Amino acid sequence: MSTPIVSVEQITKSYNGTSPVLSNITFDIQPGEVIALLGKSGCGKSTLLNCIGGFEETDSGRVRLDGQQVITPSKRCVMLMQNYGLLPWRSVQKNVELGIEGSGLTKQAITERAQHYLQMVGLHDRASSLPSELSGGMQQRVAIARALAIQPEVILMDEPFGALDTFTRYYLQNELLQIQQREKMTIILVTHDIDEAIYLADRIFIMKPNPGEIHKEISLKMSKPRDRSDSDFQHYRELIFNEFHFTNMKSPIEFNI
Ligand SMILES: Nc1ncnc2c1ncn2[C@@H]1O[C@H](COP(=O)(O)OP(=O)(O)OP(=O)(O)O)[C@@H](O)[C@H]1O
Ligand SMILES: [Mg+2]
Repeated sequence: MSTPIVSVEQITKSYNGTSPVLSNITFDIQPGEVIALLGKSGCGKSTLLNCIGGFEETDSGRVRLDGQQVITPSKRCVMLMQNYGLLPWRSVQKNVELGIEGSGLTKQAITERAQHYLQMVGLHDRASSLPSELSGGMQQRVAIARALAIQPEVILMDEPFGALDTFTRYYLQNELLQIQQREKMTIILVTHDIDEAIYLADRIFIMKPNPGEIHKEISLKMSKPRDRSDSDFQHYRELIFNEFHFTNMKSPIEFNI
């Protein structure tokens, strides 16, 4: 195994000295892995993502990015917001350039890099549009292009497709998978959608609340791209579904199919 790109070491987090939201969370993520965090509302998924990104301080424990302790946010690990976070007065092109302005690249290099990633998400012909002229799915693709243009090692995604209809979500899940396999970046994805987690992730961490803990880890031993109607897919779907309703196992498990 190579050096983990992300190491979460026994982190505990509370807000304003109240009871802990996260308790003793520990895991490693290898470069190029896709991790999905699944759990009921309020179990601490966004808080965990914010701690990993350096947007929130932990009470104890630490997060390391490629061996270095995370103190503040950095461009090596970027967050993709659920509401896309696009600036409405800037064109699509200028929104994608946002994260790389001031990076020391020449103006031409910035333009070219933005164009490259817009091409990758299939929106190069909409570069001069304003965000309000695009559909929700297109706006999310601009946000993905903007995150990719920074060329981070890790992308944190908090319910990135939650606001989109089923067809757009399937389309973007597929697009994200293709880009991830090409670019080999590491993704930590928060989702409420069990199918999305099974479709995209190498490992799924199931969290339980009060305080938020990693209750179970499931390794998905299926090649990608995955078929949602496949029997292995159904197996994992049932396994996770049961987890939220009936079972109370604590140990990490690994399923080899
Ligand atoms: N800034 C904050 N100040 C105080 N409490 C907070 C803050 N952010 C989150 N919390 C609390 O921490 C707990 C976990 O919240 P968090 O947003 O991490 O959950 P979540 O798993 O992402 O939920 P959801 O699925 O609804 O997005 C909740 O009880 C929430 O009220
Ligand atoms: Mg959340």
